[in-house]
Amino acid sequence: MSVHNENVRRVTTHRLTEMKKRGEKISMLTAYDFTMASIIDRAGIDIILVGDSASNVMCGNSTTLPMTVDQMIFMAKSVVRGVKRALVVIDMPFGSYQGNSREALSSAIRMMKETHGDCLKMEGGEEILESVKRVLSAGIPVMGHLGLMPQSINKYGSYAVRATEEEEAEKLIRDAHLLEDAGCFAIVLEKIPARLAAKVAAELTIPVIGIGAGGKVDGQVLVVHDMLGLNNEFSPRFLRKYANLEAIMTEAVAHYVDDVKTGDFPNEREQY
Ligand code: KIV
Repeated sequence: MSVHNENVRRVTTHRLTEMKKRGEKISMLTAYDFTMASIIDRAGIDIILVGDSASNVMCGNSTTLPMTVDQMIFMAKSVVRGVKRALVVIDMPFGSYQGNSREALSSAIRMMKETHGDCLKMEGGEEILESVKRVLSAGIPVMGHLGLMPQSINKYGSYAVRATEEEEAEKLIRDAHLLEDAGCFAIVLEKIPARLAAKVAAELTIPVIGIGAGGKVDGQVLVVHDMLGLNNEFSPRFLRKYANLEAIMTEAVAHYVDDVKTGDFPNEREQY
């Protein structure tokens, strides 16, 4: 188990490239608040993503589309305060970068200035390339995101596996190269066939981080609420649950309710 100490070196985009060269796998999880970010940083995670999946797991929405730049900034500031070692990546929310590269740049600059995060993530390939290049031109590192792109759910109509057909797979490979050539420091591949993800990881020199994309990529990312078992209604095949916090929390809260009702809490030592 890797638990880092206070003097440990920060993870940088450069260190991630070195890790890929050495064949050292990269670990990445989401976090949306100070406490969770502090815990997973101390446990030794390499990258913390302030994901717009907050829309689902923090806000109870059915898609990521409602998230705003203001909301992402609010969460990212809290996460950054809790992190000493990991690289902090922040999702650019739906509507803040698509279709208008000037708006992309001003959203990106605001997000970097106000949060002190390390870099941003954007969903899409060729369609958003101008925005990606413009954000990169300001010296802001960008992580790409291809395959299942939840901000495009209304185009797909479902969260099924992407790029199973040749045409979409070929476009994904082209897009991955476009993003690398533009200067992205890494790419997330979400819910695509493992063989396709392995091919992309082998062709690119930048790290490829998978979620539901098999093991032959350079690292893995999961939504922290999912891997901690905080929501047992969500159990896709790619998800490994490392705890059952829903059960632990339910039992703890029920125990507390019982102690309050019976007058067991607080006792003599728990009062002034
Ligand atoms: O928002 C998010 O949590 C993500 C991950 C699923 C990669 O984009």
